[in-house]
Amino acid sequence: MSTDAIVLLKEDHKEIRRLFGGFGNAGENATATKGRLVGKIIELLTVHTYIENECMYPEVRKLLPDLEDDVLESYEEHHVADVLCIELSMMNPDDERFDAKTTVLIENVTHHMEEEESDWFPKVRAGLGRKQLQEIGARMIEMKQKAPRKPSQPSALKKALDAVRA
Ligand SMILES: [Fe+2]
Ligand SMILES: [Fe+2]
Repeated sequence: MSTDAIVLLKEDHKEIRRLFGGFGNAGENATATKGRLVGKIIELLTVHTYIENECMYPEVRKLLPDLEDDVLESYEEHHVADVLCIELSMMNPDDERFDAKTTVLIENVTHHMEEEESDWFPKVRAGLGRKQLQEIGARMIEMKQKAPRKPSQPSALKKALDAVRA
């Protein structure tokens, strides 16, 4: 199995998109199904955001300083998704705003993943060697083991604090 960081992150994106598609196809009254899908979406996003925030982004920022602005914008996009995930994790699937909030989360994250895949990953691949990307990927695989799976876990909440702290 490849440990290339970009390949791994794209695999996560694919899985996240699959769940987004499931939510879109679930139908108006499929409350239980949508609740289950959103629970899974929150879990995957919490893990994925964690490994990007704690490993991929700081590594790229250090190795490719020209991409600093992209990294900072991505942290902010993650933060918007974090807020929506925290709120959704405290809601019931039959709450009035549950579907609307999930739709906004899906729109935001879809935009963010598209930007990463079409613009940012190619720049990173052009700037880093294969070996560097494999090393970063291997570290991310390790970090996934101890990554938070719920927005309420302290290591996930740290991201929200980092977003407002210099
Ligand atoms: Fe990201
Ligand atoms: Fe990503």
